[in-house]
Amino acid sequence: MNRLAIIGAGGHGKVVADAAQAAGWVDIHFFDSAWPVKSNNGHWPVVGNTQHYIEKMNLYDGVVIAIGVCETRETEFQTIKAAGGQIINIIHPKATLSPFARIGIGVVVFAGAVINVDAVIGNNCIINTAATIDHDCVLKDSIHVAPGAHISGNVTIGYGSWIGVGATVRQGVRIGEHVVVGAGAVVVKDIPNYITVVGNPAKLLSI
Ligand SMILES: CC(C)(COP(=O)(O)OP(=O)(O)OC[C@H]1O[C@@H](n2cnc3c(N)ncnc32)[C@H](O)[C@@H]1OP(=O)(O)O)[C@@H](O)C(=O)NCCC(=O)NCCS
Repeated sequence: MNRLAIIGAGGHGKVVADAAQAAGWVDIHFFDSAWPVKSNNGHWPVVGNTQHYIEKMNLYDGVVIAIGVCETRETEFQTIKAAGGQIINIIHPKATLSPFARIGIGVVVFAGAVINVDAVIGNNCIINTAATIDHDCVLKDSIHVAPGAHISGNVTIGYGSWIGVGATVRQGVRIGEHVVVGAGAVVVKDIPNYITVVGNPAKLLSI
């Protein structure tokens, strides 16, 4: 475990780098379209853009996509995967994962997060700081569960959905694809695809 590439040099990327360092990665380089204007991301250098990573991927022992926006993260994930990049998971050593949980590739799990028994997490997901995913949940690909959100048991979440900071989801609820659950929302009923809900109980955000 030596040299890690991180695609996406924003604030989320810094937390990924910090978790990676805690997990034992020693040489961490960012790649971002803001390079060369942006030459570092906090404590770590930005050394090129995604194309540069692809050209130099043999120099890296792993790569992870660190972009909070689910659609953009998915696009980069597919680009890196098609190019043959060695996409890995970053699990902070202070996260708690049941040995009976299953997780895909390109997943990041931050400090204080818990993934409980028989939960299934798809590829390219973010389980952010102190978020909890309880027993038997099924999360599809490219989902972001923001800090401090709590997903009760037997919940399913569709592709590309974003569960906001501090949100709570009642057990057994089915959340569709590309759903946004607002910060602090309490979801007590199923949510169809492509909508944003807020509040307690969570209701459609009308704009
Ligand atoms: C739900 C959300 C996506 C809406 O964003 P937006 O489309 O930019 O909406 P706006 O901020 O313009 O707000 C629109 C209305 O919804 C209300 N609203 C926004 N977010 C809300 C929330 N989480 N709960 C309750 N009401 C909310 C606003 O007060 C506003 O009401 P008004 O029209 O009566 O003034 C956003 O507010 C949110 O909660 N994002 C999650 C943030 C998060 O989890 N960040 C973690 C990063 S790791």
